[in-house]
Amino acid sequence: MEQSQSVQEYYGKVLSSNKDLQTTACCSPEDMSDELKTMIKNIHPEVIEKFYGCGAPLPPALKNCTVLDLGSGSGRDVYLASQLVGPEGRVIGIDMTDEQLEVAKRHEKHHMDQFGYSQSNVEFRKGYIEDLKAAGIEDNSVDLIISNCVINLSPDKEAVFSEMFRVLKPGGEIYFSDVFCDRRLPASFQEDPVLLGECLGGALYTEDFRRMLMKNNCLDYRVCASSPIEVTNKKIADKLGPAKFFSLTIRAFKVDVEDRCEDYGQVAYYKGTIEGLPHIFDLDDHHRFETNRPLLVCSNTAKMLSETRFAPHFRIEGDLSAHFGLFDCGPESIQSVTTDSNVGACC
Ligand SMILES: C[S@@+](CC[C@H](N)C(=O)[O-])C[C@H]1O[C@@H](n2cnc3c(N)ncnc32)[C@H](O)[C@@H]1O
Repeated sequence: MEQSQSVQEYYGKVLSSNKDLQTTACCSPEDMSDELKTMIKNIHPEVIEKFYGCGAPLPPALKNCTVLDLGSGSGRDVYLASQLVGPEGRVIGIDMTDEQLEVAKRHEKHHMDQFGYSQSNVEFRKGYIEDLKAAGIEDNSVDLIISNCVINLSPDKEAVFSEMFRVLKPGGEIYFSDVFCDRRLPASFQEDPVLLGECLGGALYTEDFRRMLMKNNCLDYRVCASSPIEVTNKKIADKLGPAKFFSLTIRAFKVDVEDRCEDYGQVAYYKGTIEGLPHIFDLDDHHRFETNRPLLVCSNTAKMLSETRFAPHFRIEGDLSAHFGLFDCGPESIQSVTTDSNVGACC
């Protein structure tokens, strides 16, 4: 069976709720913020029941943004984002599975009323994440792309990343949780509907993921959270063999960054102005900004903070006029998360 059909069958027909999942592979490693925990209470139980992701990979500072959710399923993250962007923002969910889209659409009015909006700020479109043009998503039109445990299911991941960077506005962000693997998996894994449907058989090999971003001129991305996946279902574990799987939340920006972190002596100050974050802002798993506390940053980090929607919330001192060599970036990179090596390509 063709890969997309197998996935549609799994999410549209085989599973009737998240209780039917055989593993917990698709699990965002991030803790949910108190704000999101409150917002989740506003979401219809049927939407929650057919939620097949985990956690809530949604970054802060989204007021008035246009958000695109790739593989939006029953719409849980779309309805969370709907609350975060507010009535002037907009959220579009794309999914290929009719059964999931039907649930998401049926509860649109419920959520509009629940959030106190006079008109809905969400829209669900049937489409393939590999071809966002066909789904009517214009070039440079989206502030933030989210995705919760979907990209591993795609038969053409190169197309997905290329489409993402096409539709992102300059300075826009990709923030997604997915399953990654420490090696290229045999093609037969993607032909197994359970391995694929449980988000393991098509897991992204971390180095291939890095190469896909590079092809889109994205030379630095950040790991926000990570955790190893333990496959406790013996039948599935036996099929998978020794490959190691990880759940990662990644962020990357459409800004012109370099492949290594360079030191220009720049210093960043967080102003404490992001709603709900008066004291601390975490850019990734090793860049924590305390309000008004100076932090020496590489030029890539400086750009992520000053050429994106975070710009009003940061003051950057210094420019690119004097270079002091490579920036000592700290330990974490996708390689150090997913292997025992400490090779850091990005900061
Ligand atoms: C693991 S579920 C996650 C759904 C949703 N993000 C959530 O957290 O509940 C995967 C979803 O992605 C959708 N999907 C998978 N591959 C897709 C593709 N190539 N194009 C569009 N949707 C896809 C499936 O239909 C399914 O609804």
